[in-house]
Amino acid sequence: MSGAVVTGWGIAVPDKVVTNADLSARLDTSDEWITERTGIKERRIGGTTSELAITAGARALARAGRTGADVDVLVLATTTADALVPGTSATVQEALGVAGGAFDVNAACSGFVYSLVTAHGLIATGARRVLVIGSETLSGITDWDDRTLAVLVGDGAGAVLLEATDGPGQLLAWDLGADGSLRHLLRCDHGGYLYMNGKEIFRHAVRAVVESSLAALGRAGLSPADVDLFVPHQANARIITAAGQRLGIPEDRWVLTIDRYGNTSSASIPLALADALDHDRLQPGDIALLSGFGGGMTWASAVLRWGG
Ligand code: ACO
Repeated sequence: MSGAVVTGWGIAVPDKVVTNADLSARLDTSDEWITERTGIKERRIGGTTSELAITAGARALARAGRTGADVDVLVLATTTADALVPGTSATVQEALGVAGGAFDVNAACSGFVYSLVTAHGLIATGARRVLVIGSETLSGITDWDDRTLAVLVGDGAGAVLLEATDGPGQLLAWDLGADGSLRHLLRCDHGGYLYMNGKEIFRHAVRAVVESSLAALGRAGLSPADVDLFVPHQANARIITAAGQRLGIPEDRWVLTIDRYGNTSSASIPLALADALDHDRLQPGDIALLSGFGGGMTWASAVLRWGG
């Protein structure tokens, strides 16, 4: 059984920046309300899920000094697939020249952590390299006249390349959970727009992140005090603050990118992780806690020792 380590990472965001002022010009909202209630200042809008995934994936491969020919499996987390069939991973597989298998994962905003844990399982059972991408174009399923959702969403993608290592690897423990009785809280029917019960999700989200994080840390024999970097799903800065405070993780250890990107669903954790890595916020041996929640409801946490 092999462990795995991240050897490359990359992101892609559309060029078009939509600020709170842009939204306030056409909706009954304001920069003050959006900033105070969500922490979002601007978001990127545009592109397709496959285009963003291809760019992020290519950057992760380039950073690792690899090509698609080196990849055994591509796992693409998305809730905004280009089409119902085929999976968006098919388009990405062809563009990147991935030599092995390719499939999509839809676990809403928890999708990247679900995929990351799955990728570690693939490596434990024989794969050498797995490319994990979270890519979303939530703008395409958003009613831009609905201020409650229009102010929250953004588009983007983030990717990591995982490679087998002789050592124990980076994943110390994980927690994946779901409660389908809450699936009505966040939904989008075929051809429709996203619907969200924001208040209820908020309530469940804080508890899910805290309990799932504690479960994963406990399985690793660690506590929140051991966490060097907390990489939460970026849905609302208030959710991150509430969860971070309840866990007792000091604020300077949280990664916050929601101000620039909004809620990018399964792209949000890899966007935040890449931002932290680009700013040298993770050193070998550091403990990183990734934790997400989303439609389903689903939740997912992973505890990594950076560098394996
Ligand atoms: N601009 C101005 N006012 C607004 C806006 C807006 N964009 N949206 C709502 N309001 C108003 C409401 O109508 C309400 O007015 P009222 O008091 O006169 O009735 C008031 O602001 C307060 O509304 P609340 O819904 O109570 O605001 P809240 O503080 O709960 O914030 C929010 C709403 C931001 C949606 C929050 O509940 C939240 O972030 N929930 C979690 C969302 C989430 O995590 N989703 C997960 C996945 S989302 C996805 O995948 C896309």
